[in-house]
Amino acid sequence: MAKIIAGVTSSHVPAIGAAIDNHRTGEPYWQRVFEGFERSKEWIRNAKPDVVIGVYNDHASAFSVEIIPTFALGTAAEFPIADEGWGPRPVPVVKGHPQLAAHIAQSVILDEFDLTLCNKMEVDHGLTVPLNLMFGSPKAWPCPVIPLAVNVVQYPPPTGHRCFMLGKAIRKAVESYPEDLNVVIFGTGGMSHQISGQRAGLINSKFDHAFLDNLTKNPKKLTKLSHLELMREAGAEGVEMVMWLIMRGALDDKVDEVYRFYTVPASNTAVGHIILANRTKGAKKTAGKPAKKAPVKLKRAAAAQKIQRIRS
Ligand code: DHB
Ligand code: FE
Repeated sequence: MAKIIAGVTSSHVPAIGAAIDNHRTGEPYWQRVFEGFERSKEWIRNAKPDVVIGVYNDHASAFSVEIIPTFALGTAAEFPIADEGWGPRPVPVVKGHPQLAAHIAQSVILDEFDLTLCNKMEVDHGLTVPLNLMFGSPKAWPCPVIPLAVNVVQYPPPTGHRCFMLGKAIRKAVESYPEDLNVVIFGTGGMSHQISGQRAGLINSKFDHAFLDNLTKNPKKLTKLSHLELMREAGAEGVEMVMWLIMRGALDDKVDEVYRFYTVPASNTAVGHIILANRTKGAKKTAGKPAKKAPVKLKRAAAAQKIQRIRS
């Protein structure tokens, strides 16, 4: 049986991608951001997901502004990197998992979430930047990635509650997939930021920290936030955080916060990042295969239920 072992949230600021692509990660401004993901990279190396479900938003790259699906699931075998104006980012093509994606589509749609299915789709910084932050810059991404694009660009985006319930439906879908797969789900975007208008540059760290606290301990409270409240508190683009609730809905009610990082700014944005592990996680139920030893680091993290906070 497949299972969701953990969820990760991360900002997807395009300038982070540009810093990587232009070899500027060592500059003090960027070092502060990338250092915060060093432990995360180590964690995911040890967690070794078989598949990542990447919840992100397309920034008028795959869909333009003519067609804007609310929830679009990538069912293709691979997803080319979109040209966002400077040529495609020099990152590996994203390989999908068509079998699991088709299974998720069937389960979730029969559960009355009307997904758009994308058998061909390019992916932009919304997905590739979080992949870089978690996996670094490998020649090929270490596992297949199923993209789930959510509209947070044109009003009206889905509600946080709808996103949370979709996460639950995705979990049910994954858990009814017969192959032994460990799945990690990413929720990307956020935290507080506003890119244009009178409040451009808005950051609300108090709100962001409370959002992170509630994401771990009381996510249902976050599902009650209206778009207006989210935008008033976290800026117009802060509404991206509804995507984090898809990730959270796919996890247990009670989770272990493995790691947290928050820093301001990266470009216009407060970078927020959290790793939440399901308590029922870990060893694959091995049908005939020899059991893999659970990674030492992961075991230690679980035993200590240690919350590491780095804030600047
Ligand atoms: C920025 C952040 C985003 O999330 C985005 O999609 C585009 C730009 C920024 O901070 O500049
Ligand atoms: Fe964005």
